[in-house]
Amino acid sequence: MATLDEIKTYAIEHHVPIMQDAGISFICDYIKEHKIKKVLEIGSAIGYSAINFALVSEDVLVTTLERDVNMYEEACKNIHLMHLDERIQILNVDAKEAQISGEYDLLFIDAAKSQYRFFFEKYAPLVSLDGVIITDNLSFHGMVKNPNLTNNRNTRQLVNKIRLYIEFLKNNPDFDTTFYALGDGISVSKRKPKN
Ligand SMILES: C[S@@+](CC[C@H](N)C(=O)[O-])C[C@H]1O[C@@H](n2cnc3c(N)ncnc32)[C@H](O)[C@@H]1O
Repeated sequence: MATLDEIKTYAIEHHVPIMQDAGISFICDYIKEHKIKKVLEIGSAIGYSAINFALVSEDVLVTTLERDVNMYEEACKNIHLMHLDERIQILNVDAKEAQISGEYDLLFIDAAKSQYRFFFEKYAPLVSLDGVIITDNLSFHGMVKNPNLTNNRNTRQLVNKIRLYIEFLKNNPDFDTTFYALGDGISVSKRKPKN
């Protein structure tokens, strides 16, 4: 039997980037309060967030996508050890190309940051009318607010992409987005009601 603490310790020891505690509790509370039943997650890593979401309530079903085979295999192991095989479906696919169907109450984007906008646009049609899209890492360790925290060219480019994604969310004609300075920065986007 694995425990959440053991999975978290593994993540820390193996440098697997998992959600921060504040971000996880925020989403778990959201799932509980809004009686979310179906979650689609982009970026499973070793299954830590998916397992947390599924543990909120027995009627929560999670589909989660992971392109890295080693992460995927570790996630499968963890999901199995937590006895959640029936409620968490993990797919070893690249979310840029995957063909996913179904309707979800919550889309959680937590994969390659340079692709956030692409993931949002590709998967938003699968989100129910009163559903929600949550994105993590919008503060990117404080660098989005203060780009001088890094001199690395690639990191700066990534930070710039996150900025553009934030602008895209702010100006999106179909979604209203609220930003929370929690964990590594979270956004919650809800569809605007149609007139
Ligand atoms: C930040 S980690 C996810 C952490 C996880 N949500 C958690 O909190 O436990 C991001 C993961 O997204 C995966 N990823 C990146 N790009 C992807 C893509 N295009 N399709 C599927 N997975 C991707 C990475 O391999 C990595 O494991």
